[in-house]
Order: sequence, then structure tokens, then C-alpha cells
Amino acid sequence: MTKQGDDLHLAIIMDGNGRWATARGLERLVGHKRGVERVDEIVEACPDLGVKHLTLFAFSTENWKRSEREVSGLMTLFRRYIRSESARLLKEGVRVRFIGRRHELDARLQELMQGLEDRTIDNDRLHLTVAINYGGRDEIVRATRKVALMVQSGELPIEDIDEHILSTALDTHELIDPDLVLRTSGEYRTSNFLPWQSVYAEYEFTETAWPDFTVEKLRDTLDAFRGRERRFGAVAIK
Ligand code: FPP
Repeated sequence: MTKQGDDLHLAIIMDGNGRWATARGLERLVGHKRGVERVDEIVEACPDLGVKHLTLFAFSTENWKRSEREVSGLMTLFRRYIRSESARLLKEGVRVRFIGRRHELDARLQELMQGLEDRTIDNDRLHLTVAINYGGRDEIVRATRKVALMVQSGELPIEDIDEHILSTALDTHELIDPDLVLRTSGEYRTSNFLPWQSVYAEYEFTETAWPDFTVEKLRDTLDAFRGRERRFGAVAIK
């Protein structure tokens, strides 16, 4: 019943960059830059920690409400990350995917995202999925429209709609469901992150802000997770 060894899917809500920076009298964007450094370290560490899938919430459909300066600063960071890390990700065996409403993003960023997905398609050491302009309800609505179109065209009888069909219409259709969803920085919410996929996930919340979330802290979090019993609705095995 448990699946707590290798090949875990860890999903992270990387919260607290802004507060981390503000508490130090720095601009919020400095916190995001430090956040990118953490992303690099965590991505590198994941395969040795038994994490096969890593999904990161980088920008939500609600994050457009932030100041123009912060939004464009984040978009620049995403472009820079792809340009500067592509070669390393490719070499380290990382397959990169992006989920979310990508057609609303800047055309240059969309091109870089597509290029990175294409270049890393044969990699299998770590599956890194970055959620940009992502909202879980929005993803479910888009999936429902795809399924409705299949019904409308006569391709799919309505009585054949089931959980599997809906899952295959989601942005995450190639991924396994998350085993553990982690949120940093002392907020106890899931904020529209992978709601369909996380119904049986374990959750972990830490007070540590994302810029301070070290590989050692991730190791401790995974150790604690591996000590939990997961029953997926069944009875405990004695
Ligand atoms: C939440 O902190 C963080 C974000 C909205 C952005 C997360 C993005 C990164 C870490 C950048 C890089 C990611 C990749 C994959 C290159 P917050 O600003 O909401 O913090 P606050 O709650 O303290 O304001």
C-alpha cells in the first residue's frame, strides 16, 4: 500500500520569496532570484534523494495581480533560467515540461519553453515540471472543454467519460500523481495547485521561506514523509 521508496513525485509551492527579501530590506525580486538558486540546488539533488518527478509552482494564474515590475521581473527570470540552465539540465538527464496557460505568455518565453521541452524529451533521470500561469481549476475547465469537444464530434460517447478520460485531458496527462505536496513559508493553503492530481497526496508545510529551503531541509522532509503510512483508502497492513 505504501510507495515511499524511490521514484517519488514531489510537488512544491515555493512560497516566501517576497517576505524573505522584504525582511532583509531588499526588493522582492531579490527574493525571487535567491529562489531560482534554490531551484537549481533542489533539482540537482532530487535524483539522489529518490525523487523522480519534481513539479514546481512558479507562477499562478492569480500572480498577474502583482505589480507590473514584479511580474515582468519574474518573466525575465524564467527566460534567463531557461537560457542559462538548458545545457546543464540536458546533461544531467532532466526532462522538462511546462504546464499552465502558456499561450498567454510572452512569445519569446513560449519559444524557449518549447525548445527546452523538445531538447530534453529523451531524458529520464528526473522529470521536472514547471507550472507557469497555472491554476488547477483552470486546468480542469480546459480539460472539460477538450472532452466536451470529443463528445460533440461523436468521437466519445458521453457514458464513456470517466476519471481516466478527464486525467488524459489535463496538462499533467503524462505524469504520475504527486506523492507529497510541500509548501514553504508558513502558509497552510494549497492555492489552486494540482487539485485533481493531489487527492491522495500527503501534505507538508514548513515555516522556512523558499530562499532558505536547503537540500538538507528537503532530505529531512523526505525522511519524515517516508515514515508516514499511506493507505489510499484501504486498511492498514499489520
Ligand atoms: C512565491 O513567493 C513565489 C513565486 C510567486 C515565484 C516563484 C518563482 C521562483 C522561485 C522563481 C523561479 C522558478 C523557476 C522554475 C525558474 P511570494 O513572492 O509569493 O512570497 P511572499 O508570499 O513572501 O510574498
